[in-house]
Amino acid sequence: MRRFLIIGHKAPTAGEFSLNDLPGSAGRLDVLCRSVNSCFFLSHEFRRDVECFLLLLGEPNPPKTIMISGEEVRYLNPDERSAGSLIKKALSIPCGDKFTESTKGIYVRKGGLKELLDEYEFVVLDENGTDIRDITDMPDNYILSDHMNFTEDEESLIKDLPKISAGPKVLHADHTIITILNESDRRE
Ligand SMILES: C[S@@+](CC[C@H](N)C(=O)[O-])C[C@H]1O[C@@H](n2cnc3c(N)ncnc32)[C@H](O)[C@@H]1O
Repeated sequence: MRRFLIIGHKAPTAGEFSLNDLPGSAGRLDVLCRSVNSCFFLSHEFRRDVECFLLLLGEPNPPKTIMISGEEVRYLNPDERSAGSLIKKALSIPCGDKFTESTKGIYVRKGGLKELLDEYEFVVLDENGTDIRDITDMPDNYILSDHMNFTEDEESLIKDLPKISAGPKVLHADHTIITILNESDRRE
């Protein structure tokens, strides 16, 4: 199982946003929707061995975490609006500290980075980290930021985690995920 955690610093934590304006009124949810697609979609295949975690830190109820299980998910199509509408549904149901399923294979809970760091061993994807090509064993679990830098609080929580670079240029989060999965594919 590979896991990608993408931190959406302005992404909404209630379902009242418009699917017609994911980049604007929905706090750059478009970045997270493209990242979801990068985690799972190949041209004629679906990556069932990936889990995607979206950490949503925007108003009105932060933090919330959405988990999409590649093994279980249904109704997800390869366009931003499809992911956006499943996220909207997940943010429309009541949730507590434990994951609640909103649609098949999509779960939501209250809680943020600290909880996830207690549950999984992550590496941080960072263009200044160790080149992935110099790593012998591909890590399983990766953290990325959205279009913004990690905050100081996040930096202090992740400061001791290994930093891994996908290449010399700063990439979009969704492209970074594809690059890492491609590297993993090449080694299999
Ligand atoms: C668009 S970048 C973040 C914006 C960036 N901090 C800036 O404002 O210059 C999105 C995320 O993708 C990941 N990323 C981008 N390029 C990368 C690279 N070459 N290697 C590893 N991770 C990368 C990082 O996790 C980064 O936080």
